[in-house]
Amino acid sequence: MNPATIAIDGPASSGKSTVGELLAQRLGYLYFDTGVMYRAVTWAALDRDIPIEDEPAVTALAQQLRIKVTPPTLDDGRQYTVLADGTDVTWAIRAPEVNGNVSPVSAYAGVREALVRQQRQVAAQGPVVMVGRDIGTVVLPDAELKVYLDASVEERARRRWLEEQARGKEVDYDVVLASMRRRDGIDSTRQVSPLRVAEDAVVLDTTGLSIEDVLAEAERLVEEQGCRPD
Ligand code: DC
Repeated sequence: MNPATIAIDGPASSGKSTVGELLAQRLGYLYFDTGVMYRAVTWAALDRDIPIEDEPAVTALAQQLRIKVTPPTLDDGRQYTVLADGTDVTWAIRAPEVNGNVSPVSAYAGVREALVRQQRQVAAQGPVVMVGRDIGTVVLPDAELKVYLDASVEERARRRWLEEQARGKEVDYDVVLASMRRRDGIDSTRQVSPLRVAEDAVVLDTTGLSIEDVLAEAERLVEEQGCRPD
C-alpha cells in the first residue's frame, strides 16, 4: 500500500511545489501547499492596513479569515485557486509585497496554531501530499513518508529569478539572492516551528537535478515505503 500522507518540506524554491503537485497527480492524491495559507493571511493584513508588526491583530485575522483552496477556476497557469473571504487571491499572494512580509507573519505562534489546525483537517479528509516548512516536524508528525528537498541558496535564487523573468518581471539576480538569504534566515531561526529536517525524513539535494529526476526519486521513495512492513 502506498503511504497515504506524504509530507514535503524544504526552503523556498527547493522544488517542493512542482514536485509535490506532480507526485500528487501521479498518485491521485490531493495536493496541498500550506505556504498559500501564510501568504493569504499576509495579503489580507496588507489589504486591510493591519500593521504586520501588530501580532495580536494579525493573529486575530488568521483566526477569522476563511481561506479556501480549490481546483483551478481559471485557465491562466494556476495550480489551484486560493480564496480569502471569497476574494480570488491566487496571484495577489505571489506579489513582492507579500514575499517581503510573509516570513514575519509565519513566525507568529497564534497564526501558526490557527493555520496548522486547518491543515490537519485537510489531511484527515484523505490521501494527501502536503507541502511546507513544518509538515513532517509539526503538522503531520506521523506522515508515512517525509521528504526534505534542499538546494544551494544560489541555485534556488537562480530558479526564482528565472520564474520572475518568465513572468515578464525585470529583477536583479543579486536582489533575489539577498531576499532569499533573508527569508531562509527568518524561516530557520524563528522560535516557533523553524524550518528543520524531521528525524525520519529523507533528504534530497536537488541542486543540478531536473524536476523529472526529483520526481523519479520521490516516486521511488513512495514505492519503497509502500513495500515496507508496518
Ligand atoms: O513556500 P512559500 O514560499 O509559499 O511559503 C511562504 C512563507 O510561509 C515562507 O516564508 C515560509 C512560510 N511557511 C511556513 O512557515 N510554514 C509552512 N508550512 C509553509 C510556509
